Amino acid sequence: VEPDVVTDVLIVGSGPAGASAALALSTYGVPNIVVTRYASLADTPRAHITNQRTMEVLRDLGVEEEVVAKATPQRLMGDTTFCTSLAGEELGRIRSWGNDPLVQAAHELASPTRMCDMPQHLMEPVLVDAAVARGTHLRFGTVYKSFVQDDDGVTVTVEDRLRGDEYTIRAKYLIGADGGRSQVAEDAGLPMGGQMGVAGSINIVFDMDLSKYTAHRPSTLYWVLAPGATVGGIGAGLVRCVRPWNEWLIVWGYDVTAGAPDLTTEYAESIVRRLVGDDEIPVTVKSSSAWTVNEMYAETYSHGRVFCAGDATHRHPPSNGLGSNTSIQDAYNLAWKLKLVLDGTASPRLLDTYTAERAPIGRQIVTRANKSIGETAPVFEALDGLSPQTPEQLWANIAARKDDTEAAEKQRAKLREAIAFKVYEFNAHGVDLNQRYSAESSSAVVPDGTPDPGFDRDPELYHQPTSRPGAKLPHAWITCGTRTLSTLDTVGRGRFTLLTGIGGAHWLRAAGAQDLEIATAVIGPGQQYEDPYGDWARLREVADGGALLVRPDGYVAFRHATAAASLEDAERLLTGAVRRILGHG
Ligand code: FDA
Repeated sequence: VEPDVVTDVLIVGSGPAGASAALALSTYGVPNIVVTRYASLADTPRAHITNQRTMEVLRDLGVEEEVVAKATPQRLMGDTTFCTSLAGEELGRIRSWGNDPLVQAAHELASPTRMCDMPQHLMEPVLVDAAVARGTHLRFGTVYKSFVQDDDGVTVTVEDRLRGDEYTIRAKYLIGADGGRSQVAEDAGLPMGGQMGVAGSINIVFDMDLSKYTAHRPSTLYWVLAPGATVGGIGAGLVRCVRPWNEWLIVWGYDVTAGAPDLTTEYAESIVRRLVGDDEIPVTVKSSSAWTVNEMYAETYSHGRVFCAGDATHRHPPSNGLGSNTSIQDAYNLAWKLKLVLDGTASPRLLDTYTAERAPIGRQIVTRANKSIGETAPVFEALDGLSPQTPEQLWANIAARKDDTEAAEKQRAKLREAIAFKVYEFNAHGVDLNQRYSAESSSAVVPDGTPDPGFDRDPELYHQPTSRPGAKLPHAWITCGTRTLSTLDTVGRGRFTLLTGIGGAHWLRAAGAQDLEIATAVIGPGQQYEDPYGDWARLREVADGGALLVRPDGYVAFRHATAAASLEDAERLLTGAVRRILGHG
């Protein structure tokens, strides 16, 4: 039977994973269709923390400025507050999301981009608009039903919800970006580890002018330690800023074994009043929904010509803000590989590196996010607030920290320590940036014989750049005439790039001789780019005439420490590397 519609890549889902896959593929000139279940994009704020690695992806895809213009800036994100309610007592704060002065410096050194808070209902339209403008065909109200695959492609049956009928789309590849209840992942039989439904939570989205409680301690997150706040949920009650300071989202737990509460407007309003602690300010509840905390990850991200990305492959609570970040980075990792296989440059073996590179990261972030929930308990513990007790007892325990006694002094110290330890959730720069791919498992990374440098400091807290194959190209500010740009701006746009300096002439010629388009960037005095601060020389870990071959996603694929001894040497080494990366080796 002839399919009704034909394309190169069919993407199921228009969330962060699907929308960014479409944007990257359209940017690279790969025909693609997105089908998505509902008649609109996300209508609630959902994921919001947008880290520097994601901003680098958006920068390469040409939408960074639009996101920055629409997002809440980093400086308004960082006074994470613990309190008994917004109007109630404050228990302490932790500077978050790069707003601690030392961490801020680390952020500035690590990337040309800044972290920001971009709620998902604002992010999706930016990604989707740009994707559609570049060629993506988007079908709202269209539900994935099933697929069959053969050696040449995948035939997918979809349902048009408006017309009520079904039709088929034939694609060379299928991307399942259909979220935490992914039907595509299930139909593809992707093996999953972990478990779903670990705890119960509800989200309440509401309008309320809370500036009098928040503007003086601007933050994305206000954590509320109140009676009932340790039941289910994500560690405590949470009042999250959607737009400063009048649009909000509350996360409140429920006992998952008892089932979700009846989410009437009255119930939602009662939770809002409890966490805000003010009965006077008018409130408009816009929506409420129940969800569960999950701890699940796929061990394999693909089956044949079917690839999954985003929550389809990693399901975890919002702690650390990793959901849409990891989803966008999955899609960015996959898109250039699909492009090179579809245009015949690479062998389909290149696609095996997708699981090899992304599955370990998915598992790591699922573990990290769930661990962060547990790490809120010491804050309650410090206030003797974990054992079941009446609200009066809890308030008395909290008040006891103000006493002039030795016990109270100990309690104050314990509370400060417990809040400071939340740095692993709110300022984990290393979790965001230290993702490195291994040449042992991925053929798209060429080992250079150097030992793994590991990490000098806690790898979850501190970013450590390296140019070793498998790591993201280090960022340094360089210049081109009067223009200042990042080393990351010399790479990307769907192409490989060879970076070298004075003495790298053999590498440049060898790059031009490959069966793969390789852009070049020469950095040094009197060259295409200059390194006036010497930052690049300090970070690059190779000599002036050495070479870095950087993949379209900005990760170093191949490194040679010194100038090539001859053109033949450069060609032999680079050709060998390219063959391995493209799966022809
Ligand atoms: P995502 O779930 O965003 O997108 C899936 C897409 O697939 C949607 O477009 C959906 O319509 C579509 N789809 C699903 N089945 C389909 C089918 N059969 N056919 C066609 N289309 C189909 N995170 C966070 O950090 N903080 C938060 O507060 C929240 N809150 C939150 C609320 C709700 C209601 C949800 C669903 C999720 C969150 N999250 C969140 C999680 C966060 O939204 C999530 O990590 C990312 O959106 C993951 O992006 P994906 O693109 O992978 O899936």
